Amino acid sequence: MELFKTKKELEFALDRERNAGHSVGFVPTMGALHEGHLSLVARAGAENDTVVVSIFVNPNQFNDPNDLKHYPRTLESDLALLGSLRCDYLFFPDVTEIYPEPDTRKFDFGALERVMEGRFRPGHFNGVAQVVSRLFDIVRPDKAYFGQKDFQQCSIIKKMCILLKSPIVIVPCDIVRERDGLAMSSRNSLLTAAHKAVAPQIYRILQEAQQESVFSTPEEVKMGVYDKIGKIALLRLEYFEIVDELTLQPIASWEQEGTKVGCIAVYAGQVRLIDNLVFDK
Ligand code: PAF
Repeated sequence: MELFKTKKELEFALDRERNAGHSVGFVPTMGALHEGHLSLVARAGAENDTVVVSIFVNPNQFNDPNDLKHYPRTLESDLALLGSLRCDYLFFPDVTEIYPEPDTRKFDFGALERVMEGRFRPGHFNGVAQVVSRLFDIVRPDKAYFGQKDFQQCSIIKKMCILLKSPIVIVPCDIVRERDGLAMSSRNSLLTAAHKAVAPQIYRILQEAQQESVFSTPEEVKMGVYDKIGKIALLRLEYFEIVDELTLQPIASWEQEGTKVGCIAVYAGQVRLIDNLVFDK
């Protein structure tokens, strides 16, 4: 694995790969790597000749300065984890390398950004699009890999590629879970023991909601989730929505065409966790 801090070095190495006819798979991350990230890197390795991983905690996507301050940074263990599989190039730039000047671009994702994460984290997806588009310009991958835990982010990035007329193929990858069901997230390392003990209830409640969808309306299922999370003292629900997979708009009836996804955001103490589950109907 070669580690680069500058765009120039990475671009030079990747030009060499492309000139040799090698396909490039890219996994952008903010570090604090876990099994979920590793599954993306493994998939990129299985589908491409060259694998690039970036680690960059992007200040532009944090709507809460406290969240940015406490975001876990674990470069040593990240390097060790990446060493266990095939990562050819690791890009680990400083903020000034990515943003030599402030990025003032405003992306318009329409209704996709007015719900769920977009609604509760104003500016978040604009910041994600700013950094991902810059990283895409540097890496110019054939395919880029993203975890489905950030389900709405996957939709936003696909839309960003359409807006920018980018040919990059976005590959959403399955959520990887702890044995107790908790969706893997870099933020899990910030949970206290007490919050870690109750956090798996989020996935359990999502699964129950999926089962209840057989005999309840979407609104009843939604109320059930609010009720159950509300009874767990250490969890605070921010939202639960059952949305159409493509439009991300809340559904009013199971009769609506298309795949439905239950999406949830919950605070466990100071730590904000998100998860989702497809409701096959
Ligand atoms: O999902 C993430 O870790 C980040 O949002 C991403 C895509 C690396 C952009 O900073």
